[in-house]
Amino acid sequence: MSHDARVRYDGGSGGGARLAHLSRIICAPETVARVFRQSVRMSTETASVSTLPLSTADTASPAEIANAAVHTRGLSKVYKDFWGRDKVRALDSLDLTIHRGEVFGLLGPNGSGKSTTIKLLLGLIFPSRGTASVLGHAAGSTEINEKIGFLPEESYLYKFLNGEETLKFYGRLFKIPSRELKKRVPALLDTVGLDAKARKRKLREYSKGMARRIGLAQALINNPDLILLDEPTTGLDPIGTREMKDLILSLKEQGKTVLLCSHLLADVQDVCDRITILFRGKMQTLGQVKDLVQVKDITQIQATGLTPEQIVEVQEYIKRMGLNNATVTHPTTTLEDLFMRIVREKTAPGGSYTSSDT
Ligand SMILES: Nc1ncnc2c1ncn2[C@@H]1O[C@H](COP(=O)(O)OP(=O)(O)OP(=O)(O)O)[C@@H](O)[C@H]1O
Ligand SMILES: [Mg+2]
Repeated sequence: MSHDARVRYDGGSGGGARLAHLSRIICAPETVARVFRQSVRMSTETASVSTLPLSTADTASPAEIANAAVHTRGLSKVYKDFWGRDKVRALDSLDLTIHRGEVFGLLGPNGSGKSTTIKLLLGLIFPSRGTASVLGHAAGSTEINEKIGFLPEESYLYKFLNGEETLKFYGRLFKIPSRELKKRVPALLDTVGLDAKARKRKLREYSKGMARRIGLAQALINNPDLILLDEPTTGLDPIGTREMKDLILSLKEQGKTVLLCSHLLADVQDVCDRITILFRGKMQTLGQVKDLVQVKDITQIQATGLTPEQIVEVQEYIKRMGLNNATVTHPTTTLEDLFMRIVREKTAPGGSYTSSDT
């Protein structure tokens, strides 16, 4: 009987290196959830301590700012009450640089300032302090509107238009010639998975998932360079979520920059190059997903086809190196993979299930 085995041991010292030739060594994958929980816990325990040495001094040159997709320094937002008194400090001194062509994730629990950040970048609200530039221009400049696509947290689309009419309407707002729209609208509807039946239905009849899809198509109608997605997978089933993630990756392949906000951590982990975690308006951590989620003191060795006897042998070998806490497990799949596999298996040959079928 053959086995897929995963051997792991803590505190990989010199002995670990000797075992390296046995197989490919990979670092134990941990979910973003651990980093997320850590950041929130640290922030709750020591509210004034950040896990990052953040500097509000702007050391970026004008060329760096011009080349960045998003550049903020000391960006802060305090919402005021009716009397002009400070009500909520929604964003506090955000220093952020998003490079062109990357998929960047803005994470944080409810009320941490994610949507506020997006609104500031779009110029929908004004900062109380600090600066923000987008694609080399001050946030909110009219010059860059055409280069930005935005999927808001909640859809504000006209309920009495159907999917096709909605895209044509937004296309005309961007002054896209009708000849071009005739090609672009059906192509976009295909891209977001709204079939012939769905695109003729009024938006008021759309399910949550369909509304998210048409929202995304609307955000892409102007072929933007920078796409801001606020909770893009809300309301989508696992298939829709997978499609949304694939779409985000294909946007990256086309050289576009994507900034997405989410508290659905697994979604972010799969598609983002870098993430930051906000908590109570403050940046808690920033970095590449693969670095942030890596557990540095655990090493995993993966091998296919090990027999039970060979597994015992490997364990003995590790013990002989003085490491007693080696564990042998089989890798698990994610629930999403399992779900996708089941749906794929149940789909009739030749037919394809999309969540807009229902
Ligand atoms: N217009 C407003 N007036 C007053 N307070 C506001 C306003 N908009 C947002 N806030 C407050 O600012 C804080 C940050 O809100 P924001 O919507 O940016 O959070 P979020 O991270 O997007 O949360 P969620 O995950 O729930 O979407 C919250 O405490 C919220 O109540
Ligand atoms: Mg929000």
